[in-house]
Amino acid sequence: MNSSYERLQRCYESFREKIDFSPKVALVLGSGLGDYAEGIQVEAVLDYHEIEGFPVSTVAGHKGRFIFGYVKDVPVVIMQGRVHYYEGYPMEQVVLPIRLMKLMGAEVLFLTNASGGINFDFHAGDFMLITGQIASFVPSPLIGPNMDELGVRFPDMSQVYKKDLQDVIRGAALDLGIPLKEGTYIQFTGPAYESPEEIKMARTLGADAVGMSTACEAVAANHMGMRICGISCVTNLACGITDQPLTHAEVKETADRVAPLFKQLVTETIVRIYQGMKA
Ligand code: HPA
Repeated sequence: MNSSYERLQRCYESFREKIDFSPKVALVLGSGLGDYAEGIQVEAVLDYHEIEGFPVSTVAGHKGRFIFGYVKDVPVVIMQGRVHYYEGYPMEQVVLPIRLMKLMGAEVLFLTNASGGINFDFHAGDFMLITGQIASFVPSPLIGPNMDELGVRFPDMSQVYKKDLQDVIRGAALDLGIPLKEGTYIQFTGPAYESPEEIKMARTLGADAVGMSTACEAVAANHMGMRICGISCVTNLACGITDQPLTHAEVKETADRVAPLFKQLVTETIVRIYQGMKA
């Protein structure tokens, strides 16, 4: 057994000693959705600090904890505060919480984030259904000895964001009257926002939105056979589209403004995904 897997196992045992809950859906909260859990029926909370061997997030405003509870009748684990590569953790630690949520029992991974809009049709405040991703600009979390217990050495990546889950999100958005864009998410390392030239490159490569998370998490989750879906909140136009310099304040302001709609969409999606799982 390799040491990374042992570390993951230690985290899992540390979780099990404290929490008796089996989530079906794992939800990662991006900027703006941070207080989503305040609207759900919370059964237990586990601070990342309480888990032996767990990487702890440092960004101001990012709370670091797992919340266990019910979205309507759906047992969920929610990651409030993700681990970012730019904080200095090795990729393997960045995705440890994702792997842990799978071990907890979650079969579906619902990823959310804030992003910069690269597609010229996008506006600040839009939601983008993530239909695909480019993770080639960040190290793969699968580098190193393969954890055979989790998945195969060379996993297929032909449908990371499951088509049926994409349809669920489209249906939920349509019925709620929430406009939904679609596109490819590209992850860069950050923490600096991109240069106009990098955004031009990303557009040429086929990316529609850019951020500093998510794609690496999807790579790890896909490796483990989780069913993945994702929505990005386009908080700003990516660098170079307007003359305005980018600030974290702008990102936060937009994310907070559209958070009520985002929460509705997330809740409706989770409920429908679970209906599909029970059917
Ligand atoms: N670039 C990278 N990450 C982001 C952006 C952006 O423009 N907006 C929100 N997260």
